[in-house]
Amino acid sequence: MSKFQNAPGTFDLLPPDSAAFLGVREAMTAPLRAAGYDYIETPTFESTALFKRGVGESTDIVTKEMYSFTTRGGDDVTLRPEGTASVLRAALQANLIRGSLPVKLWYSGSFYRYEKQQRGRYRHFSQVGAEALGAEDPALDAELLIIGDDIYRGLGLTEYSLLLNSLGDQKCRPVYREKLQEFLRGLDLDEETRKRAEINPLRVLDDKREAVQRQLTGVPLISDNLCEECRAYHEEVRRLLTAAGVKFLDDPKLVRGLDYYTRTTFEYVHSGITGSPTAIGAGGRYDGLSEELGGPSLPSVGWALGVDRTVLALHAEGREVAAGDQLDVFAVPLGDQAREVLFELVTTLRRSGVAADFGYGSKGIKAAMKAADRSGARYALVLGERDIAENIIQIKELATGEQESVSFTDIVTTIQEKLK
Ligand code: HAM
Repeated sequence: MSKFQNAPGTFDLLPPDSAAFLGVREAMTAPLRAAGYDYIETPTFESTALFKRGVGESTDIVTKEMYSFTTRGGDDVTLRPEGTASVLRAALQANLIRGSLPVKLWYSGSFYRYEKQQRGRYRHFSQVGAEALGAEDPALDAELLIIGDDIYRGLGLTEYSLLLNSLGDQKCRPVYREKLQEFLRGLDLDEETRKRAEINPLRVLDDKREAVQRQLTGVPLISDNLCEECRAYHEEVRRLLTAAGVKFLDDPKLVRGLDYYTRTTFEYVHSGITGSPTAIGAGGRYDGLSEELGGPSLPSVGWALGVDRTVLALHAEGREVAAGDQLDVFAVPLGDQAREVLFELVTTLRRSGVAADFGYGSKGIKAAMKAADRSGARYALVLGERDIAENIIQIKELATGEQESVSFTDIVTTIQEKLK
């Protein structure tokens, strides 16, 4: 054992579990690629100012959770806590938005937040995200909501809910915000919550404490305070979801931990990870973020699905994710001459599309067959000195133990036939 350990709040992704992660990632990205989203990759660190401006100065992410540091050259940078600000920054910088809109992008990668570690809450985690930039169209919101739901259902999850809300726009949200603040000022709240009510009153709605929730009876809700345009927009998103057979729950108290959201906001929550609903994916519209970053008006919508939490949700429901790659054959050489011949054969098999591995190291037949069993391959190919002399090779089906000798000259075609 090494004297070094992984940092707190992080974990190593090891085989065989790592295959489930790859399977989940693939299940999340394939539908995006098939729906016209193009791949984007941005650096894992960016200027600290981008996230402060993009995510919001008063959010928990910016005030408590960012990994920020000054480089040797004196630049203030931060390990990305989320992807939306970076993707929009990159799209604006490269002027990707000059052509026809929306520009639809997807990404997959690591994100960093200095969180208090608990099940499903890590300091280094993995998201697959999608951002559709430059169109104000309820069908685009619906597209992402439907794809997200299809992904979770396709993976076999059943015990999750989609919570949906609208946070209004620049016109109706400030009016609602004032109304909410007025209500909150009349409550018996501790100092910190009172402060929060002044800076970011919507976040008080999200307070999990019983004593706070009790006082929120009769609180004005955003759903009753949307302007006509926002109400109609939200109704259309809801109609499209219903038409597509996507079940959702209206949650007028749903607020998000990032400040850029306008109109449509949502979370896919699962109860099997911690016992209380935990977001396995989330997103929404951010119509004002481009201007916030110094760009033109660019109404946009997106989501990010948590890969780690989705794997935990699958475990909680007892679902297996189809493991990715499976070996077709494992070659077991008995003796030096066989080693040379078989190594060549493995290369030929690989070049003809057969997934093959080889018994490296000088092992006895027992240890080598054990390695073949453990490899998960369908067939073991066993070659000894006598086989070479007779121009044959032994092929053993590992699941059944059935073994036969076949002509060495025909082995590639024989294997290909068997794998059909
Ligand atoms: P978010 O809600 O902060 O949104 O994160 C999205 C998902 O990432 C969460 O639902 C969760 O599954 C996963 N996640 C977040 N933090 C952690 C953590 N500490 N440990 C494990 N998983 C975590 C965003 O990041 C937005 N950028 C989503 C978006 C895209 N909105 C518009 N476009």
